[in-house]
Amino acid sequence: GLSRLVDSHGRIVRYLRLSITDRCNLRCIYCCSNARQTCIPHPQVLRYEEMARMVGIMARMGVVKVRLTGGEPFARKGCDDFLFMLHKRFPDLDLRLTTNGTLLEPHIPLLQQVGVKVVNMSLDSFDRDTFARVTGRDMLPAVLASLDKLLAAGIKVKINAVAMRGINDGQMDDFVHAARSMPVDLRFIEFMPMGSGTLWNENTFWPASEIRAEAEKRIRLLPVRDDLAEAGPARMFAVAGGQGRLGFITAVSCHFCGSCNRLRITSDGNLRTCLFDDKEYGLRDMLRNTTVTDAQIGQILSQACAEKPIGAELLASRTKEAVASKQMVGIGG
Ligand code: GTP
Ligand code: 5AD
Ligand code: SF4
Repeated sequence: GLSRLVDSHGRIVRYLRLSITDRCNLRCIYCCSNARQTCIPHPQVLRYEEMARMVGIMARMGVVKVRLTGGEPFARKGCDDFLFMLHKRFPDLDLRLTTNGTLLEPHIPLLQQVGVKVVNMSLDSFDRDTFARVTGRDMLPAVLASLDKLLAAGIKVKINAVAMRGINDGQMDDFVHAARSMPVDLRFIEFMPMGSGTLWNENTFWPASEIRAEAEKRIRLLPVRDDLAEAGPARMFAVAGGQGRLGFITAVSCHFCGSCNRLRITSDGNLRTCLFDDKEYGLRDMLRNTTVTDAQIGQILSQACAEKPIGAELLASRTKEAVASKQMVGIGG
């Protein structure tokens, strides 16, 4: 039989982050270096049917929320059909997506059809030149168009802005304006030292405490309590007199490891128990071996889960080097 996913720290896993591709049409400076364009050979990438089986097994073990990540999920052919398949097979699943928004617009009707209620969108600057500098592509207009259409379609949007000193730290007026004038959750994410060849160093790191102080020069932030099912890594605040909310994901100061409820599957079919732990558990060979049963895969999941570390402790042991050897594009955030 399949048992619940509980780790040795008593944390219960309910949330799966499923990276469906390592490909992306952008080249964000915090995510992948131009030098090493990741591209896993197609046969090593999990097939949609294999991913759906993993979702089924994990749903039976207590997972209720599944987020498709990338690379960019819509950079993989058939993403719409996969979303549709997941919705049909697992109608109760809380299905979500993290996307860069550049390819999103034509897929919005499908998102409505499969009941996606929230989309997380990367958007690190509302200034066209800065956006192009951060992502390597001049595509801010496409992202803003998708954002408008999502809101018009009644889909909730969480904006992710990776906070980088010297890059977007001078644009608090824009961020504050966005959180005031749109019904969105705008989350600043502390820049994490992932992989080599990204821009991360002590000078580009902009800590949440300082971002918050910068925001509070302009607006009053009122603490809000997220209901438990919604609670993610972000600490959210209502913006006094505004429509949206502002929040902080202290990915480096890391206040949320104690309540971490997630596992990750990379696009090449490895289970990761923590963003900051390089240890991966191979699932692909098991999925492709017809003699391996769901129960046996479940056992590996349980064993991996028991070994799930406290990420903040791993981070604390590394100061100047990257905490994980893989770049974010290969993990899915
Ligand atoms: P919600 O469930 O909507 O709160 O989304 P999320 O924040 O879990 O997902 P999203 O894909 O939008 O990720 C936002 C940022 O949080 C990304 O930079 C992720 O890498 C980071 N993040 C998500 N989960 C973890 C985690 O377990 N540990 C750390 N350190 N960062 C995380
Ligand atoms: N530090 C913080 N956030 C990152 N993301 C990607 N790389 C990093 C990093 N090094 C974020 C992206 C995306 C989310 C999945 O992860 O902004 O929104
Ligand atoms: Fe692509 Fe997202 Fe990585 Fe940017 S953060 S390069 S949009 S996968």
